[in-house]
Amino acid sequence: MLSDMLLVSAPGKVILHGEHAVVHGKVALAVALNLRTFLRLQPLSNGKVSLNLPNIGIKRHWDVTRLHSLDLSFLEKGDATVPTPEQVEKLTEVADVPADCAVTERLAVLAFLYLYLSVFRKQRALPSLDIVVWSELPTGAGLGSSAAYSVCLAAALLTACEQIPNPLKDGDGISRWAEEDLELINKWAFQGERIIHGNPSGVDNAVSTWGGVLRYQQGQSVSLKRPPSLKILLTNTKVPRSTKALVAGVRSRLLKFPEIVNPLLTSIDAIALECERVLGEMEAEPTPEQYLVLEELIDMNQHHLNALGVGHATLDRLCQVTRSHGLYSKLTGAGGGGCGITLLKPDVQRQVVEATKQALTGCGFDCWETSIGSPGVSMHLASLLDAPIRQALDIL
Ligand code: PMV
Repeated sequence: MLSDMLLVSAPGKVILHGEHAVVHGKVALAVALNLRTFLRLQPLSNGKVSLNLPNIGIKRHWDVTRLHSLDLSFLEKGDATVPTPEQVEKLTEVADVPADCAVTERLAVLAFLYLYLSVFRKQRALPSLDIVVWSELPTGAGLGSSAAYSVCLAAALLTACEQIPNPLKDGDGISRWAEEDLELINKWAFQGERIIHGNPSGVDNAVSTWGGVLRYQQGQSVSLKRPPSLKILLTNTKVPRSTKALVAGVRSRLLKFPEIVNPLLTSIDAIALECERVLGEMEAEPTPEQYLVLEELIDMNQHHLNALGVGHATLDRLCQVTRSHGLYSKLTGAGGGGCGITLLKPDVQRQVVEATKQALTGCGFDCWETSIGSPGVSMHLASLLDAPIRQALDIL
């Protein structure tokens, strides 16, 4: 067991192209977002394991001796197999969360306990730890916040119990794990995601683990070798949506009009593939023509998504506002509200970006200027983290 403080971060994600079509076997391009979740793990000697999630106001602790005295054999089957409903029920008893606890809080606590108990189960004693997780990502907006949480937990806990090495070497400010360690982090993070989401595809935890751009199709994901980092505006319309209902809506439209909807899905697939090809070419020296292609692809896909019935008046507004400033946008994720992305070409003027952000905020939206294609799960040196992050993680 390591005795040092660990600082881990993992990115959220957006879908660049392929949402909805991916449900029908087509390609999706998921990209890591430069809005991250940060975790501080501090070994303690007070006999407690504590979890503090300042974004959602959770502060809980458990007595390590009590956890140790419990019959944890129900986790025996939990080693990288699907957490069963019985395991989740038993975990709920162990967690001892109040009955009136909000769903987000309950699931965050269960995912933590599942990973903590499973990862340390083979060691002689459960360690006393203080864990704080803070995120730049809004929750429930389709930006992969739960996956980033699970990835941070998996990476920190596996490092703390020395199943994977601490990748930070003397003099490094930030460091990443080797491929086989990332595989293990991803495997455990997927378990955390399963506790939170039931039956997720696994793309969110994969992109949070590996970062960059991930091509995802029928359960298989492949990272693009050297993807460019693209600047974007990420806008949250704040209109709540149900991914399940929107996916069902597309399915019924497909059943009703197969001759019309199938070509749309095929075309979205072609857009994702063309985007992948262009991104692959952009690794050397991106050209203005390549950015124009990316803009056209964004524009075409947005119209297809509208034709699939997953648009929303606020998303139309978002596209119109950015278009009036010469910028192209599309919805990202399930649609029906939620978030949209706007590509910022490198030569776009600062005053254009500021005016667009102001106009979007004026519509009542939240807007972040950020980038996509960011690095995956990373280990940081405390002294090199930005002051607001250090403050949020309670690092003195
Ligand atoms: O729920 P979100 O916003 O992360 O996006 C879901 C993406 C869909 O393609 C619509 C559904 C899916 O499972 O892939």
